[in-house]
Amino acid sequence: MFKFDFNVEDLDEEISQDLGGLSNESTDDARPSETDVPETLVAAETHSLEKMLSKLPDSISYSFIPIQLVNGSSVNLPKRELFDARLQLLSSDEDSDDALRGLGEPSDLLAGIYEGGFKTWECSLDLASTTSRLLPNLLDENLRLLELGCGTAIPSLFVLHSKLSQPVKENTKQKPLFLHLQDYNKSVLELSTLPNLILTWYFSDAAKAFRSGSAELEENEGELELSPELLSAFKECLSTYRITLAFTSGAWDSFVPLHSSSESQREDYDLVLTSETIYRSSSLPSLIRTLRACAKLPPVTQTIQTDLADSVQKLALNSETVTLVAAKVVYFGVGGSISDFTAAIRQAGGEIQILHEHTGGVGRQVLHIRWLR
Ligand SMILES: C[S@@+](CC[C@H](N)C(=O)[O-])C[C@H]1O[C@@H](n2cnc3c(N)ncnc32)[C@H](O)[C@@H]1O
Repeated sequence: MFKFDFNVEDLDEEISQDLGGLSNESTDDARPSETDVPETLVAAETHSLEKMLSKLPDSISYSFIPIQLVNGSSVNLPKRELFDARLQLLSSDEDSDDALRGLGEPSDLLAGIYEGGFKTWECSLDLASTTSRLLPNLLDENLRLLELGCGTAIPSLFVLHSKLSQPVKENTKQKPLFLHLQDYNKSVLELSTLPNLILTWYFSDAAKAFRSGSAELEENEGELELSPELLSAFKECLSTYRITLAFTSGAWDSFVPLHSSSESQREDYDLVLTSETIYRSSSLPSLIRTLRACAKLPPVTQTIQTDLADSVQKLALNSETVTLVAAKVVYFGVGGSISDFTAAIRQAGGEIQILHEHTGGVGRQVLHIRWLR
């Protein structure tokens, strides 16, 4: 079985018993799983917010995860506890076999069945932090964001948190936010991604009035009842802030970029984020095709300037998609690496600049990709 070097849950739990020990080195049982990938991957499918909301449990358990931002401050984002999602999965008899098997195994990944989305991986924190460099400029725009392989969706939660920290504006002045979340597993979107978005709203400034009218916080810290009133208030807030949530499960191979019906003139994504998704060499072509298909090209063909890292925040979001990829330098045992990814991006007509680098232990980077052709 392949295991990544570690993820945030492992850090939080100081390496949980059932996942076994983790190391920064390749281990004997960590073999490339390329041959294990099923020939037929799960086809892409979109899911309406209403349908997803109808599948939520009565309550969820949560904890907070701290995100260190580039300006030195930090933000605590709420997210559903892994054990709680796992419990719901185990008690659900609906088509959840794929992820059920993944969660039941002492492994982080089951190729083509479960791709690790229930856990929060380290690079997603780096990506949220790097994304903070684009704020608040980002939120003053009509923003269309796609997070590919979102899992617990920490970068998207950060953007939502930032949006909901702004005072609400008069409807005509409120810039829309279209937030499209993609994960291989539908159950990850239902059991983890959506609950995390709801938690992020619940603990935001925008939900202050709702929170003050409920005794929930003091009485049941760490647990939130998802009452019909709470879900209505969540939807109302999305509408007030002109936020649209879209969800797609399934393989990148069949992923189709979504167009917002209300803003037909703005069909491409302004910001595409993805974290810890380059680990499997056989998935790279479909990931790169998807990244490319979702991006607007720069208006004039030009090479990346050396000072790009400092000028990311100045990029005109309306004219060029900002694509950020966070990953470990190498994925021991499974075959993926940043150098392979970089070579494949260049071959596909893109250029890459490193925006953030972590060199201790297993190296991590956040990359900015520009498509020149
Ligand atoms: C290791 S998880 C990372 C989750 C999250 N981005 C994070 O960093 O915490 C990899 C993610 O990539 C997605 N993924 C992997 N292979 C995929 C494929 N072939 N098609 C679509 N999604 C895939 C899965 O949805 C999974 O959530």
